[in-house]
Amino acid sequence: MNCKTIETANASFNVVDQGEGSPILFVHGFPLDHSMWRFQIETFSKTNRVICPDLPGFGKSHLKSDSEMSLELLGNSLAELLTELQINEPLVFCGLSMGGYVGWQFWKNHSRLLCGMVACNTRAANDTEQVARGRQIGAESVRKTGAAPIADALIPKLFYQPESDKIKLVAAEVRQVICKTDRESIASGQIAMSQREDSTPWLDRIELPVLFIAGQHDPITPSSEMRENARLVPKSCIREITNAGHMTPLEQPDEFNDALREYLDQISTNR
Ligand code: MLT
Repeated sequence: MNCKTIETANASFNVVDQGEGSPILFVHGFPLDHSMWRFQIETFSKTNRVICPDLPGFGKSHLKSDSEMSLELLGNSLAELLTELQINEPLVFCGLSMGGYVGWQFWKNHSRLLCGMVACNTRAANDTEQVARGRQIGAESVRKTGAAPIADALIPKLFYQPESDKIKLVAAEVRQVICKTDRESIASGQIAMSQREDSTPWLDRIELPVLFIAGQHDPITPSSEMRENARLVPKSCIREITNAGHMTPLEQPDEFNDALREYLDQISTNR
């Protein structure tokens, strides 16, 4: 995976830009970076132009101004990145969890840049008051303790089989990514998610084909809730990845990639 640095007016991006063909934008979850998409970068860059950034504040990307992080700001910064990369055709936005929350915002402000969306292990609803309060407490605590306790609490929820040899390896890498993330960005990310809009009312207005990808055993974004979201989008389908939790692209890359490939083939036939 070759990363490059791209400067936009508001952010400095570390981004993978690999391959040629119809572009796909992969957007990671919280508090991770582009490396969670490694199996998709490898596979889809053979046939597509794969754009896979670290969101500003995560990995090696950062916001240039002191602006408060919000999901809308992250979505807008991605639109600026696409301009800098001279992406001149509509692309597929594929976001996981927080990356999916950014995706709804991206659709709201930049739908003309899109020909499709893939919503992985994510939800349209915003936080309940209780969840939002929990995030605010979490933000205060990460500022004091750093990222390691968050990593320890998150890993068992992200993976369905954290004890299997295959998953132990990727989980250890994900833990490293979380531990390297700036504690202030983790706090800002939590606050940004706690303040996000409810995107549910937008779903029946999305005219694009949307693929929902759920994990059979995802405790964070249950597949039942994703099914309800999918029913609201006029042109949608849902795939449930078996033996996977929240990190479907890393846990079951072959099944995930087959689902994404089938969707890409369908949208290219219908265009
Ligand atoms: C993620 O994976 O991005 C997070 O689980 C999102 C969240 O905390 O709601």
